[in-house]
Amino acid sequence: MNQIVEERTRRTEWYRDARFGMFIHWGLYAIPAKNEWIRSMEELTKEEYEPYRDEFSAENYDPRKWARLAKEAGMKYAVLTAKHHDGFCLFDSSLTDFKSTNTPCGRDLVREFLDAFRAEGIRVGLYYSVIDWRHEDYPHYGDMHHPMRNHPECSNENRDFNRYLTYLFGQVRELLTNYGKLDIMWFDFSYDKMRADTWRAEELIAMVRSLQPDVIIDNRLEGSGEDAGSILTGNPTSYSGDFVSPEQMIPPEGMRDEDGNPVPWESCITLNNHWGYAAHDHHYKSARMVIHMLVECVSKGGNLLLNVGPDATGEIPEEAVEILKEVGKWMKKNGRSIYGCGYAGLPKPEWGRFTRRQNLLYAHVMEEQAGAICLGKMAGKIDKMRLLRDGSVIKEASYWNLKEFGQNAFFFFDSDASDCYPLPDEKDTVVEIFLKEE
Ligand code: GLC
Repeated sequence: MNQIVEERTRRTEWYRDARFGMFIHWGLYAIPAKNEWIRSMEELTKEEYEPYRDEFSAENYDPRKWARLAKEAGMKYAVLTAKHHDGFCLFDSSLTDFKSTNTPCGRDLVREFLDAFRAEGIRVGLYYSVIDWRHEDYPHYGDMHHPMRNHPECSNENRDFNRYLTYLFGQVRELLTNYGKLDIMWFDFSYDKMRADTWRAEELIAMVRSLQPDVIIDNRLEGSGEDAGSILTGNPTSYSGDFVSPEQMIPPEGMRDEDGNPVPWESCITLNNHWGYAAHDHHYKSARMVIHMLVECVSKGGNLLLNVGPDATGEIPEEAVEILKEVGKWMKKNGRSIYGCGYAGLPKPEWGRFTRRQNLLYAHVMEEQAGAICLGKMAGKIDKMRLLRDGSVIKEASYWNLKEFGQNAFFFFDSDASDCYPLPDEKDTVVEIFLKEE
C-alpha cells in the first residue's frame, strides 16, 4: 500500500464504521426558498440577492434540537455548509462582511452547530465551497456557473484570482484554527477547467493537514460528482481526498480503485429533491426508502450522508423530522447491522441485501417471498441465527420442498412452521447470522 492510501485507511477508520451522517444545507437561500443555486439559476445580481441578509434572523435556530434529532436517527456525524457558492458565511469570518454575524441574527451559527453536535457525541464536519459568486476576484463573465456569466460588462480583466485564493486559504485557516477539532472538511467542487491546480490544492491540503492532521477530506478539490479523480487510481495525489462523494445516486457496485481495492465513499442524497430549503418540495423519501438506501450503501462498503434543508428561521421541516424519527426507531433495534459493517462478499439475494461484520452476516429481508427465504449456498456454514430486533431464535428450515436444493440454507420467520406471514418489520427485517469460523 502506498503511503497516501495507508494514511487514508487509518484516518477513515471511524468514518467507515459510522456509516450514517446528516448533511445540512443552510444559508440565505432559505429565504427565496427554491434552491441553493437560485442566484445562479435566475442570474440574480448582487443587488437582487444580497438584501436577504437584512432579513436573516434565524430566530428558531436551536442546533441542540438538530443534534438530538440526528442522534435519534442513528446518525454518527454531521456536515454543515459553512459557506455555499453564494459566498454567504455562517461563521464570523474576519475576511468578509457577508456573514451571519452581520445580519439581524448576529450569531456565529457554525460555532453553535459545532458545540451542540459535539455535546451529543456526534462527529462534526464543515462544507466549504471553493466556488464563490460574491468575491470580486472570482471569475464572473464566461464562467460556467457564475450568476453574471452572461454579462460582458462583468469582464474579468481586473480580477485577481490569486487574491481570491488568499481569501479562500484564509477562510479555511479560520475554520481549522478557531473552532476546535473538526472531523471532516467537505470541499465543493471542481468543474470545467476549475480544478485541483486552480485551487492550489496541493498547498491547500498541506495547510489543512498541518493544522488538523486527522481531518477527513472529500475528493472534490480534484474531482466532482462527475469524476472522482485520482483517488480511484493506483497513484492518488496528496489532494485526492479520503473518500469519494457520489451525489444523488448509489454506485452500482460500491467504489474500488483500479486494482479492485475498496475505497471509502459516501453517497450524499437529499431527503426531498433539494439541498437547500425549498418551500414547494414535499416529495420526501419514506423512512422505508431511507433505510433501504442506507442498507444499500453499507452492503457496498459505503456511507450515506442524508441531507436536510432547514428553513430560514432555522427549523428542519416537520416532514423531515418525522421521517428521521421513524428511521431512528428502526436503527435502535437494527443498528448493529449497519455500524462497522460492509461488503458481505455474497451475491445480492432476491429479497433484499446482506451486510457483514467479520463472521456476523446480516440478512436484510425487504420483500416477502413465496416460500422459505433462501440464503444462498450456505448449507453447513451457519452456526445459529437470531432475529436482530429481539434476539429470538430463527431455525434453518428443512421442509420437504427444499430438499432438492440442499446446498442452500433456508429459513421461515416462524421457526416451527412452513407458513408465510407478513414480514415482522415491513421496512426491513434483519436476521443476524452467526457464521461458523472457516
Ligand atoms: C452540488 C451542488 C450543491 C450541493 C452539493 C452537495 O455539487 O453544487 O448545491 O451543495 O452538490 O453534494
